[in-house]
Amino acid sequence: MSVSKPLPHDSGHLHVQGTARYVDDIPSPQGTLHLAFGLSQIAHGRIAEIDLQPVRDAPGVVAVLEAGDLPHSNDVSPSVHDEPLLSGHSVHYVGQPVFLVVATSHLAARKAARMARIDYQPRDAILTIEEALDADARFEEGPRIWEKGDAEEAIDTAPHHVEGRIEMGGQEHFYLEGQAAMAWPQEGGDMLVMSSTQHPTEIQHKVAEAIGRPMHAVRVETRRMGGGFGGKESQGNALAVSCAVAARLTGKPCKMRYDRDDDMIITGKRHDFRIDYRAGFDSDGLLTGVDFIHYTRCGWAQDLSLPVADRAMLHSDNAYHLPAARIESHRLRTNTQSATAFRGFGGPQGMVGIERVMDHVAHELGLDPVLVRQRNFYAPASVLAQPASDVPKDNSPENNAEPPEAGVDLTSRGAVAASSQDAAVPNAGGAQTTPYGQPVEDFILHEMTESLMQSSDYAARRAKAAEWNAQNPILKRGIAMTPVKFGISFTLTHLNQAGALVHVYQDGSVHLNHGGTEMGQGLFLKVAQVAAARFGLPLEAVKITATDTAKVPNTSATAASSGSDLNGMAVKTACDEIAGRIAAHLAKLHQLPADAVTFAEGRVHVGEESYTFEEAAKLAYEARISLSATGFYKTPKVQWDRIKGQGRPFFYFAYGAAVSEVVIDTLTGEYRILRADILHDCGASLNPAIDIGQIEGGYVQGAGWLTTEELVWDDDGRLRTHAPSTYKIPAIGDVPEVFNVALWDGANREDTIYRSKAVGEPPFMLGISVLMALSDAVAACGTGYPALDAPATPERVLAAVQRVRDGV
Ligand code: MTE
Ligand code: MOS
Repeated sequence: MSVSKPLPHDSGHLHVQGTARYVDDIPSPQGTLHLAFGLSQIAHGRIAEIDLQPVRDAPGVVAVLEAGDLPHSNDVSPSVHDEPLLSGHSVHYVGQPVFLVVATSHLAARKAARMARIDYQPRDAILTIEEALDADARFEEGPRIWEKGDAEEAIDTAPHHVEGRIEMGGQEHFYLEGQAAMAWPQEGGDMLVMSSTQHPTEIQHKVAEAIGRPMHAVRVETRRMGGGFGGKESQGNALAVSCAVAARLTGKPCKMRYDRDDDMIITGKRHDFRIDYRAGFDSDGLLTGVDFIHYTRCGWAQDLSLPVADRAMLHSDNAYHLPAARIESHRLRTNTQSATAFRGFGGPQGMVGIERVMDHVAHELGLDPVLVRQRNFYAPASVLAQPASDVPKDNSPENNAEPPEAGVDLTSRGAVAASSQDAAVPNAGGAQTTPYGQPVEDFILHEMTESLMQSSDYAARRAKAAEWNAQNPILKRGIAMTPVKFGISFTLTHLNQAGALVHVYQDGSVHLNHGGTEMGQGLFLKVAQVAAARFGLPLEAVKITATDTAKVPNTSATAASSGSDLNGMAVKTACDEIAGRIAAHLAKLHQLPADAVTFAEGRVHVGEESYTFEEAAKLAYEARISLSATGFYKTPKVQWDRIKGQGRPFFYFAYGAAVSEVVIDTLTGEYRILRADILHDCGASLNPAIDIGQIEGGYVQGAGWLTTEELVWDDDGRLRTHAPSTYKIPAIGDVPEVFNVALWDGANREDTIYRSKAVGEPPFMLGISVLMALSDAVAACGTGYPALDAPATPERVLAAVQRVRDGV
């Protein structure tokens, strides 16, 4: 069966040969025009005067468009109509598109775009969190607040407390293929658009608005992206809309791609956060209550900031049961790029908050941070699985009330943590609930972290690091384990749907379409494996094709890690339909019941007889049976009230844990990751090779966010780190020398596609273990708490070493 096999990526051989086709590689028809934006040079203000004559006079220029020249909608926002394609008179960040140049070549367009003469009337720009708070510049009237119990009371009456603040930077997506689009005018004013996008339906929608036509007049095709990472959920709109508008105006195909500096200056990035925290706990390190305040820098337009900030709140607990919690979230408006989706979608920022608290609590009590983490874990799923009568089966909101915790002996929860074999039942009354009221019914991190402690030899290595640190004054080692519990589903419930279109041709070959997009994560391969498995065919019999809005309509972005969950199910439904029709026909021919027909190893078995799949398809075709079907899927069980912060936003949770070991140089602050051990839960993996690739890549990208990737804006709001020369993403040499990745052996307890679990984003947050290992190494330099901010660049590590030595 082709599901669960470690097959190589379907385009792997094309990638390494350089023959995989991306948007800019599509041969352009003669006469294709090229586009570039002229950008705002100030962070906030008005354009007093603009002279575009030098731009128009530049060689190769065919047209120059300003906001007033746009025939229909001037908006590229994915959420509210607050993001004009071209600025008009007021500008809101350095890099905002002001005008659009259409020229005969890419270079001519870019050169001309720099020749405008613009007089600005600058206004005060809001750049920092403090400035935004002072000006009360935000995207919702006030902060959003979710509460569970009385956190203040729980904290104040606890025997121990910590409080502090952590700042964490944003992150540039650094997809290898930059943003790109192309539009070809068709007859009758229709438009064909090729776009490097995670969201073809959104491109179709925004292009249709911009050219004043219904969605049926626009077809969007996406074969693949050279990486998206969330940066192509909404940020491709501006390019595709520009191409379509220019193509409509000139009647010529139009193409646009950002060069790397422009890409970094124009497009949104991960949200940077400041989190203030206060926690109460007992002398075992068990939390009684936590208070978080999130400050989120959203940039100039709303984009996806509200759901990103929500997801940060939703991951404030990570893997830990918080008896009482208060989470307050400020969504701040600043004159910077409009921050957007990035792998984890706010989850990583929320998780860093609680992981910092765990680290701080352990330091305060002088306990091993692993022990403190395990003690605070949610109750294990195995405990819940036994007394079936006690397990709430209905997840309706009425039943989401916190179960009575009177019988919970907190020390026995510690005992469970120390030995997961221990049958102590910490909470037999039902699942513990998250701060937002969802019962955690599938918690497997007790077993997973016990297993990881063994396989990574954690205890011995921790002792060895301590020994090393006692003997070496200059180089200090640190080791840390952090877990991940990540919620799977779009929190906007209606997005949890997908469609598919499957054709079986009369030669038995299969043509596959679904609404998901391929960005390197292996979605197309996984979904093709599902189709092949259902028909009992080898993978080669299934043709993987480009995503196309004319084949599958009204799709959601390929995001929230749910690509294979949603599209895999939709495809299976379509395949079930076709297989069912073939089976019914063959069963009738043989006067057998339909369940006597099975599909395996390229053959269709009917009782004692069998046909090749090709023969079966041919027979069905000749009997005038349709061999084409659509499939549809919607995720069950989810419902969510984002205002109250209550409900079941997630179908299930994906889990993982990582142990990272680092060494720092206390003279320079430089460091290396020496070793990483990861155990990650993909349920019953659809493709272990692809999944391990996602885990390795996610961990390294997460570590990059928290260590070397630093975005720096100057006092005028100019992004100074807009190229790889100044913005340091991890290179192959930054990958840990010893890197052990294993998959947890278990099936999803929810009924997902072949019981697999989503894997796209969760491993990103395994990188948090690197920040915590650095904190551990710094702590070895003195008595103070490191309070290390992120990114923990060598400069920040060095400053933290000094603080710790001073005992601050
Ligand atoms: N892996 C690669 N190679 N390239 C990417 O752009 N994007 C990530 C993740 N893994 C990404 C990736 C993000 S942000 C998401 S949401 C998921 O893939 C989306 O794909 P999936 O839902 O099919 O996992
Ligand atoms: Mo991923 S941030 O959901 O595209």
